[in-house]
Amino acid sequence: MAHHVQTVPTRTIPRLTRREGWSFLLFHDPLNTSLRLARKYGDVFYLQAERNKVFFLNHPDDIRELLVVQHENFRKGGGVMMLDRMLGKGLITNDGAAHKQQRRLVQPAFHRRRIAGYAQAMVEAAQRQARAWQDGSTVDMSQEMMQLTLVIVGKTLFNADVEKEADTVQAALVTTMEAFRKLGLSPLGELVERLPLPIHKRLRRARERLDKVVYRIIDDHRSQGIDQGDLLSMLLMARDEEGNAMDDQQLRDEVMTLFLAGHETTSNALTWTWYLLAQNPEAREKVQQEVDTVLAGRPATIEDLPRLIYTEKVLMESMRLCPPVWAIDRRAVHDTTLRGISIPKWSRVVMGQYIVHHDPRFYPEPEKFDPERWTPEAQATRPKFAYFPFGGGPRLCIGEAFAWTESILLLATLSQHWEARLAVGARRRRSLKENSGVAPGTLFD
Ligand code: HEM
Repeated sequence: MAHHVQTVPTRTIPRLTRREGWSFLLFHDPLNTSLRLARKYGDVFYLQAERNKVFFLNHPDDIRELLVVQHENFRKGGGVMMLDRMLGKGLITNDGAAHKQQRRLVQPAFHRRRIAGYAQAMVEAAQRQARAWQDGSTVDMSQEMMQLTLVIVGKTLFNADVEKEADTVQAALVTTMEAFRKLGLSPLGELVERLPLPIHKRLRRARERLDKVVYRIIDDHRSQGIDQGDLLSMLLMARDEEGNAMDDQQLRDEVMTLFLAGHETTSNALTWTWYLLAQNPEAREKVQQEVDTVLAGRPATIEDLPRLIYTEKVLMESMRLCPPVWAIDRRAVHDTTLRGISIPKWSRVVMGQYIVHHDPRFYPEPEKFDPERWTPEAQATRPKFAYFPFGGGPRLCIGEAFAWTESILLLATLSQHWEARLAVGARRRRSLKENSGVAPGTLFD
């Protein structure tokens, strides 16, 4: 019997012109540059950087194929190299068997039941924040959200109070993210890594400061010597097949990873959401109405989540328009063919949430903020990877459920008490040249 082998014709992949390549390498405005190039070249294009190719996949089906079906042909890309310096070999940066083992170890802390147990701490932190704000005052929303999500991750995962250290962490984080955003996804990242630039020194200092905080948390836990029922206790008690505990370095790397990954992204998602609501008063009023109806003045609980439907849609739309992680990347571990695209070993592949989430084929009038894109019916018309703020496949964000729970509860709780307006003169800064990607100066009154 004849076998039917499905063959996909090899696709011809457009290559960026030298000029376009340089515009990327200099990273003037990567979000808009990449969007412009995707509009020009379509679903996939590449540039030649040093000896290797850098592919850009812009179609949800190709992205799904890489992240879900062919994930074994790829490892984490150069984008994590910068992060590696700060995070060491934690869950985000690790690969292969070590990653699998760590993921198994950490997973129980993100079980639905555990997350439900974190809800109260999330709401209480938001209530404290709501009490601290004053009528008519102007706040830097990015800073406020950073502090709030930091306190929550400290409390829920590590049973630690980090309120006093928030400024230190924030300053160190700004340095790290600046380096990461400037260099991390740059096709010249590895070259830049070897140059003696001031950013390297700043990174080292930031790391020292963060290390202090993380080791303080670990030491506190150790000295108490009891199982506190949190993630850090689990990590301290974990043993590998030979019965060995994690060494200090491993512990530090894992705690640092979750500590940073567990708050910066959610904070940016919330900051952008406040910005978008301030620009769209109708949506803001609908959130307030929903919150007033569902909660009727009492504190939110985990049971309220299924009824905060519009609030959730607003967050989904916000993470479509302003994805906190705007691109992820991988490196091919051998020559491979991905739906007709031949990808040589060592090539880098960049998948841009920002590009896909702005594709008019899936989101007509992509720049428009429209939470009604997130009805179940509308969602069913789109390919699954037309929306991937949390990545996908085995490297899917481990904190996805944590992040949805947290952002819905925080937005609902703060909206119970406050209405955010944009401060006079506040503006949205989007290009990386200007900033770190958040909207500062949102006014409350
Ligand atoms: C809105 C909030 C968040 C967004 C948009 C986000 C986004 C992402 C994305 C896109 C990835 C995949 C990266 C890749 O494939 O290269 C990822 C991985 C990860 N995230 Fe998140 N994240 C968020 C919140 C969180 C939270 C709250 C935590 C922890 C408390 C967390 C911890 C992690 C970890 C540990 C990984 C690595 C997982 C692995 O590779 O096994 N994230 N995140």
